[in-house]
Amino acid sequence: MKFKDEINRRRTFGIVSHPDAGKTTLTEKLLLFGGAIQEAGAVKSNKIKKGATSDFMEIERQRGISVATSVLGFEYKNNKINILDTPGHKDFAEDTFRTLTAVDSVIVVIDVAKGVEEQTEKLVKVCRMRNIPMIVFINKLDREGKDAFELLDEIEQKLDLKVTPLSFPIGMGYDFKGIYNIWESNINLFTGDPRKDIEDTIEITDLSTPDLNKLIGDEAAENLREEVELATGVYPDFDIEAYKNGSLQPVFFGSALNNFGVRELLDCFVNIAPSPRSKDSDSREVKPEEDQFTGFVFKIHANMDPRHRDRLAFVKVVSGKFERNKPYLHVRQGKNLKFSSPNAFFAEKKQVVNEMYPGDIVGLHDTGNFKIGDTLTEGEKLMYKGIPNFSPEHFRYINNADPMKSKQLNKGISQLMDEGVAQLFTLEMNNRKIIGTVGALQYEVIQYRLEHEYGAKCTYENVNIHKACWIEAEGENNDEFKEFKRIKSKYLARDKRNQLVFLADSAFSLQMAQDKYKTLKFNFTSEF
Ligand code: G4P
Repeated sequence: MKFKDEINRRRTFGIVSHPDAGKTTLTEKLLLFGGAIQEAGAVKSNKIKKGATSDFMEIERQRGISVATSVLGFEYKNNKINILDTPGHKDFAEDTFRTLTAVDSVIVVIDVAKGVEEQTEKLVKVCRMRNIPMIVFINKLDREGKDAFELLDEIEQKLDLKVTPLSFPIGMGYDFKGIYNIWESNINLFTGDPRKDIEDTIEITDLSTPDLNKLIGDEAAENLREEVELATGVYPDFDIEAYKNGSLQPVFFGSALNNFGVRELLDCFVNIAPSPRSKDSDSREVKPEEDQFTGFVFKIHANMDPRHRDRLAFVKVVSGKFERNKPYLHVRQGKNLKFSSPNAFFAEKKQVVNEMYPGDIVGLHDTGNFKIGDTLTEGEKLMYKGIPNFSPEHFRYINNADPMKSKQLNKGISQLMDEGVAQLFTLEMNNRKIIGTVGALQYEVIQYRLEHEYGAKCTYENVNIHKACWIEAEGENNDEFKEFKRIKSKYLARDKRNQLVFLADSAFSLQMAQDKYKTLKFNFTSEF
């Protein structure tokens, strides 16, 4: 197959949702269609269940699963599909944000009864900021939920999207009869049997046909006609360019658990979803069809086996062809690296491969060379942009609890930070280390992993910090900057890249500093 065709047939996307909306179930049904798995239940949920085990043990379990579900690749109708896993738990939101830098489009899953939930809002906001094309799937139509129009309204308002339904439910819950596929002009009747033959759709090109009444009854037929007329009148026609530039979001309805409405979603998805897109770097925009390979690390996963402390770095191929055993430039380190066993990801396994195309995710074994955001090229010194660090929500001092193991502790902290588990700030004043995280759970994870993977022990101590902001000043010798550094010396720290960070102890003191030092810029994210 030609290089260009290989690119065009690739669809790399993420599914985002609030926990429990049905992301895992939908993923599994998509894999079933692709023939990548044989039975339901094969994809394990990576969510953190509250239960008998403590939270961090649960996270370890989850981490094991998430190695397996990080990237799920499969073939469908001559498309190569890569689903990138995005944790729904809010404490792992940063992981999801980073993964979203590697997707070319997104499917948003919404629970018909719960409507738009908190995590969905946050994640969709990130997608919107990046103009990522989104398709919305409203799930669990076999249950009582909100009215379709009410939900479409809610999505527009809360998520700030512009929607157009491409399918429409016929009843819901107990009265759920099926789905009218506006996109394909046919009806799929619901039997509640997930094994139902998926080819079983009925062509209805004209909703006024009396056949519709025979199929679903007079009342439902009348309702459907009215609703579809209203929907097609109120919502804009589907426009593929508007979808691709992120200004229009098609909506599908269905029930993932019953494998209902999923085929419609998938068929439309492979048709309209974008193949790998161009990506901005610090020097230029890079196109996938360029012949030189470039890619970037968006995720690092520590090996689950503590005896082999190697890690897997996930690289998204942006342009050109990645080839096994070919030397590539690690731009940040300025050295060439060769990879003898790069992995490709398929539904249930990973496998060593010789070449990978734009849109694909390569898993590279790493002994500590990579950090999230690193770029690989064939020699060009460009760096990909767009993996930001956000100000953490929680801050604690980290102390060494075993003086004999300080080397292990430092190595452990450094490697866990490379993985993006949390952020490290070192106070300028006294070199004390502060760990900042998105969720409180991460502290347990770090403590547990330091002990089990590095043989080091740590304790935490509270520190009163409201927010971390990255400081930008015009020149080191700027008087205002000097004064700021003198007055605020107690609150200044360096992040892992040695950037200056102001750890404000309250919203008030941050506001004061912003008002007083007008030439300084206080940034709440740092582009990696
Ligand atoms: P998540 O990955 O987004 O967190 O959600 P997941 O797929 O795990 O689904 C959450 C729960 O919702 C699961 O039930 C799942 O079976 C159920 N579910 C998913 N899709 C549908 C649907 O279309 N209709 C109905 N009625 N339920 C659906 P659970 O009881 O939490 O888990 P399990 O014990 O069934 O695995």
